Amino acid sequence: MTSQEKSRRSMLAGIVGLASSGALVGKVGAAVLTPRTTEGPFYPTPSMRPTDIDNDLVKIANLVEEAGGKIITLRGTISDREGHPRVQHRIEIWQCDVDGNYMHPRDRRSTNHDPAFQGFGHDITDEYGAYVFRTIKPTSYPGRAPHIHVKIFDGDRELLTTQFYIKDNPGNTRDGLFNRMSRKEAETVSMEFVQHGSGMEATVDVIV
Ligand SMILES: [Fe+2]
Repeated sequence: MTSQEKSRRSMLAGIVGLASSGALVGKVGAAVLTPRTTEGPFYPTPSMRPTDIDNDLVKIANLVEEAGGKIITLRGTISDREGHPRVQHRIEIWQCDVDGNYMHPRDRRSTNHDPAFQGFGHDITDEYGAYVFRTIKPTSYPGRAPHIHVKIFDGDRELLTTQFYIKDNPGNTRDGLFNRMSRKEAETVSMEFVQHGSGMEATVDVIV
């Protein structure tokens, strides 16, 4: 971890710490739980996953080539509704490649899957509940707004299945799953991209 990442993480920890103080929670109102949604048809079961399932989906171990698409950093924290960090929790993400192909045999177009895109990865939250991924900005998939699938586990117990969307993407309001959420819920799973260093970064804090 670079010192920049460390300072970022300790800043995140400070925010989580603040959120856990009763006074602040009282002022901002009750925390909005991250909404649950369906897993979708393309969750890769362990046998479908590449050997490399780390938190860098853009670079597969031992491959020179990097995935096609706009590279992004996705980070945030996982905490409970009282603001306590969920430490050593497993977070998984999966998504289609830049051309909308899932790495899943049930996706008819999986044979075209970008061989340099990992398609699935995981991270384990640190002592502040923080996670981070390097991946690509999600693109449109037929009938869906751009999205990243997310699952969170406490050991073997699955706590949450959800999806992250691009804030203010025009496809969101035409998306059936997106439209099931209240405006407040949608905010909790919206990725707002900001320039950070040489790349784009979005922060999504999960409450579960
Ligand atoms: Fe999907």
